[in-house]
Amino acid sequence: MNLILFGPPGAGKGTQADFISKKYGFAKLSTGDMLRAAVKSGSPLGKQAQDVMAKGQLVSDEIMINLIRERIREDDCQKGFILDGFPRTVAQAEALDQMLITEKKRLDYVIELQVDDTELTQRITGRFSCAKCGTGYHDSFKRPMKEEVCDSCGSTEFSRREDDNVSTVTKRLEAYHQQTAPLLPYYDKENILVSIDGMADIVEVTRQIEEIIGGTGKLAAQ
Ligand code: AP5
Ligand code: MG
Ligand code: ZN
Repeated sequence: MNLILFGPPGAGKGTQADFISKKYGFAKLSTGDMLRAAVKSGSPLGKQAQDVMAKGQLVSDEIMINLIRERIREDDCQKGFILDGFPRTVAQAEALDQMLITEKKRLDYVIELQVDDTELTQRITGRFSCAKCGTGYHDSFKRPMKEEVCDSCGSTEFSRREDDNVSTVTKRLEAYHQQTAPLLPYYDKENILVSIDGMADIVEVTRQIEEIIGGTGKLAAQ
């Protein structure tokens, strides 16, 4: 099964993609994570992307499309994949459709996590993650079970994203509303869009996604 987790910055795409990919064995393809890894490694791509990301703008379609094209051909995507943060523009969505035709694959669902802008800002400014394994946390909504120790790997080092400050978040939300939200009618026309309440707590959002994957969700009932 191939899914897109769709939604604004801070909607919970990464959080849910982690759960779903572990539970069902689908590959998690997060373009944000790929770009952050490139920035960390100091590669030419990372150097190009760094400033754009720090400003809260979108990296060019050409770069993003090439990143994903390579990735969905890999072995771990054959059972299924979850796209987190891609596509983000109409050009990216059209390119994805073409890639899927070439690879003889299709999208099963585009799952939209609906969350208000004020909640998003709170979520993003409180977010931190394990510096070693990347597990995500939140100052108020998802603290490690043992204070200052990562639940997944036991590390005691955590980090915060450079673009998780209030002024960059405002720019990221603008980019979402102007360039990414117009994709919703695109997928609605293809009859694969399912919108869920992303304001619910993390466990409840996971439950709603599992319902969709299991075929008992809204789309199946239509
Ligand atoms: P990216 O890394 O994709 O960032 P984003 O879209 O801004 O989304 P986030 O990762 O901030 O949020 P999320 O939805 O994953 O939320 P999370 O699960 O962490 O992209 C970063 C940048 O890279 C972009 O700005 C752009 O420059 C570039 N880029 C990436 N892809 C691109 C593309 N395709 N084209 C062009 N440029 C691209 O949750 C947030 C917090 O809330 C966490 O702390 C979590 O614990 C908490 N939380 C999650 N769910 C809940 C809940 N239900 N209730 C309470 N708290 C919750
Ligand atoms: Mg994310
Ligand atoms: Zn960890």
